[in-house]
Amino acid sequence: MNSPIRLAAANAVDAEALSAAGSRLFAQAYGKHSRADDLAVHLEQYFGQDYVARELQAPGVSYTIAYEADQIAGFVKIRHGPAPDAVPAAEAIEIQQLYVDAGRLRRGIGRMLMDNAVAAARDEGYTGIWLSVWQDADWATGFYEAYGFRRIGTAEFRLGRSTFMDYLMWLALDENS
Ligand SMILES: CC(C)(COP(=O)(O)OP(=O)(O)OC[C@H]1O[C@@H](n2cnc3c(N)ncnc32)[C@H](O)[C@@H]1OP(=O)(O)O)[C@@H](O)C(=O)NCCC(=O)NCCS
Repeated sequence: MNSPIRLAAANAVDAEALSAAGSRLFAQAYGKHSRADDLAVHLEQYFGQDYVARELQAPGVSYTIAYEADQIAGFVKIRHGPAPDAVPAAEAIEIQQLYVDAGRLRRGIGRMLMDNAVAAARDEGYTGIWLSVWQDADWATGFYEAYGFRRIGTAEFRLGRSTFMDYLMWLALDENS
């Protein structure tokens, strides 16, 4: 039976657990679409424990974890800062990582994590949120479009030595943006 989902801001003590969960959840979603050597490089670069520990201390970065009982069911990482030219705001919040465990999809966990990021962006006066998502990840583009994001451009995404094409997407948080 499913247990209630609880959200919590991550801090330095969560580095090891977040690194393990991030590696597992990324591999679940993208492992079958990537070369094994590219995947290994990417996991070390963006989900390695040293990297996660540094990011947890970095200004403008925050992770929020969704727990089911004591297990990580998903997490979101947001970054405040400069945005690419296609984004209709000079400064915005980026959803840099959003992952839900493959065994827990379509239970509203992604929406809860996104709601949390939207609340943070509104609190801090940002006019919108942007992100980059692989063009073939129809599960993710479907989720973002259902949430209200729209496509505003394209970008290259490096995974190890391979290059994939992403959509840049934008969610306006006020009617003028
Ligand atoms: C994208 C992701 C975060 C969505 O998380 P989730 O918890 O399953 O999403 P939710 O249950 O909150 O879904 C909310 C709504 O989004 C839409 N949606 C979710 N998954 C979808 C899918 N596979 N296809 C189309 N629409 C989808 C639906 O409208 C859904 O509402 P419904 O279930 O009532 O129909 C999740 O699929 C995931 O982590 N995927 C693997 C990692 C990934 O690709 N992350 C994005 C990287 S950019």
